[in-house]
Amino acid sequence: MSRILIAFASHHGHTRKIAVRIGDHLRGLGHHTELASLDDGLRNIPPPEDYDVVVLGSRVEVGRHAPTLAEYVRANRAELSEMPTALFSVSMAAAGAPPHADPAGYLAKQCDQLAWTPTRRAAFGGGLPYRQYNWITRFVMKQISRRAGHSTDTSRDHDFTDWAAVRSFAVAIDAICPRVQHTASYV
Ligand SMILES: Cc1cc2nc3c(=O)[nH]c(=O)nc-3n(C[C@H](O)[C@H](O)[C@H](O)COP(=O)(O)O)c2cc1C
Repeated sequence: MSRILIAFASHHGHTRKIAVRIGDHLRGLGHHTELASLDDGLRNIPPPEDYDVVVLGSRVEVGRHAPTLAEYVRANRAELSEMPTALFSVSMAAAGAPPHADPAGYLAKQCDQLAWTPTRRAAFGGGLPYRQYNWITRFVMKQISRRAGHSTDTSRDHDFTDWAAVRSFAVAIDAICPRVQHTASYV
């Protein structure tokens, strides 16, 4: 059993949904998982040293992951470099791409900028929750979706995530977990 932190940045809830699903799979594989939102501010994210594995995930907006993702890595670089880590990215660019592929290079660019190599990484297609968007975001996302060949039906929300790929990513994370036995300590 490993202790796993899953810290994510999600604006409209889809990255959160993927983080929750990864946590569900890992718990099913016998691990202890904790979720934390990078959007709540770095002070509220526990430090890596409290865990055996750290998983980070972020939405992509306007070509970028949430800045708090990079801030967390920079603030904890030494610890993260010495432990198993995983990074996932959620974007429309990854919709329909082969499992875990990074077609727009968002993950590669992020890792280059940080000079940090997570043990595992994956990109997932995200969602188009048209009904959650305000009118301007809905309008802009509809235009972008038309050009990209995605649905422009704004009367409903759309999910482009390959959930089997999310599951296989959780299995890949399980494979990098140290096989540690955590015993309760009594005082
Ligand atoms: C304002 C905005 C900008 C976006 N920019 C991009 C982008 O540059 N590239 C991309 O592939 N997807 C982009 N997307 C799609 C999001 O990555 C996708 O909807 C994702 O599921 C959002 O995750 P969240 O619900 O956790 O915020 C954008 C979405 C919004 C609302």
